[in-house]
Amino acid sequence: MTGNRPAVRPARPFFSSGPCAKRPGWTPEALKDACLGRSHRSKPGKAKLKAAIDRTRAILGVPADYRIAIVAGSDTGAVEMALWSLLGPRPVDVLAWESFGEDWVTDVAKQLKLKDTRIIKSAYGELPDLKQTDPSHDIVFLWNGTTSGVRVPDGDWIADDRDGLTICDATSAAYAMDLPWPKLDVVTFSWQKVLGGEGGHGMLILSPRAVARLESYNPPWPMAKTSRLTKDGKIVEGIFEGETINTPSMLCVEDYLDALKWAERIGGIPALTERADANLRALATWVKRSDWADFLATDPKTRSNTSVCLKIVDPWFTALAKDAQGAAASKIASLLEKEGVALDIGGYRAAPPGLRIWCGATVETSDIEALTPWLDWAFAQVKQ
Ligand SMILES: Cc1ncc(COP(=O)(O)O)c(C=O)c1O
Repeated sequence: MTGNRPAVRPARPFFSSGPCAKRPGWTPEALKDACLGRSHRSKPGKAKLKAAIDRTRAILGVPADYRIAIVAGSDTGAVEMALWSLLGPRPVDVLAWESFGEDWVTDVAKQLKLKDTRIIKSAYGELPDLKQTDPSHDIVFLWNGTTSGVRVPDGDWIADDRDGLTICDATSAAYAMDLPWPKLDVVTFSWQKVLGGEGGHGMLILSPRAVARLESYNPPWPMAKTSRLTKDGKIVEGIFEGETINTPSMLCVEDYLDALKWAERIGGIPALTERADANLRALATWVKRSDWADFLATDPKTRSNTSVCLKIVDPWFTALAKDAQGAAASKIASLLEKEGVALDIGGYRAAPPGLRIWCGATVETSDIEALTPWLDWAFAQVKQ
């Protein structure tokens, strides 16, 4: 711990967990070829949307027989489209180990009111027992819990010969972690996370089994237009070719295309993952030395390389009442924001008091390294 103000600041103080830092070198110039003032259904408009789908498939290695759609309402829109369209015919297992998983529990148990639902939970920092899931049930889960920094280590716990569907919210995982496609029937994410795109749009990826469910099952509840993926019992193929259900922002589409091109230039998933891993390693090196901070994720195998959550273990801090802990953690974050060193690194409001530092691919490792002495400095200031 040090009381001295560090000499070097991160070149880019952007460590927010969403919207995340833009890619290195991004300027508004990246948007100059946007298809603006035109219909998104015009030839050039549709070509942009199709290119976003095709490049997504190429970079993520999405199998040719999986369908990819751009949908409304960001990641939440995509997840809820899947829950409302697919759930009902089988029992459902919902995994929850932090706040976004809890949101899907609310949707399934309280909004859709599906009686045959099992909620498999754990506390912040832990992963629930994945083996409790039943392959004959539909399984709803997050690949990476953004608010606790805990991710599933792999897909080995998902049966290859399952009868149920796996519905995976992968918004803070896609482009930074390997997604084992044969284990996943529905995958969703948004543009503003690992690639640092703009918010508003969701990606919905469906396996052939998910499509078969859509075409064989008609939910007993009303479906909003923005969620309707089928017509007369058949999937609407155009939605998966860039004919969005309603109007997208072509400025955001251009920005996503720019992010995808950057991802391609640097070497795709291996390079993106390595950038996030390197950022996590830089933080881990510091955590190892630190006498006041530790990872919230207890098991290193489940530690996120994107939304890295830290708890404060200093005895002065742990002796404080919960409210005072929250206030102290917020003070560290706001001190660093005031210094222009780190923006938006307060822990999530529902998580245990601490800090959350985005380590996704658009963040430079040199900036994480420059940040760590400042964390020590800010903690020392607040403790004083
Ligand atoms: C795991 C997870 N799910 C869902 C969401 C909600 O995403 P959006 O705001 O894109 O709907 C977030 C946002 O941070 C998230 O991290």
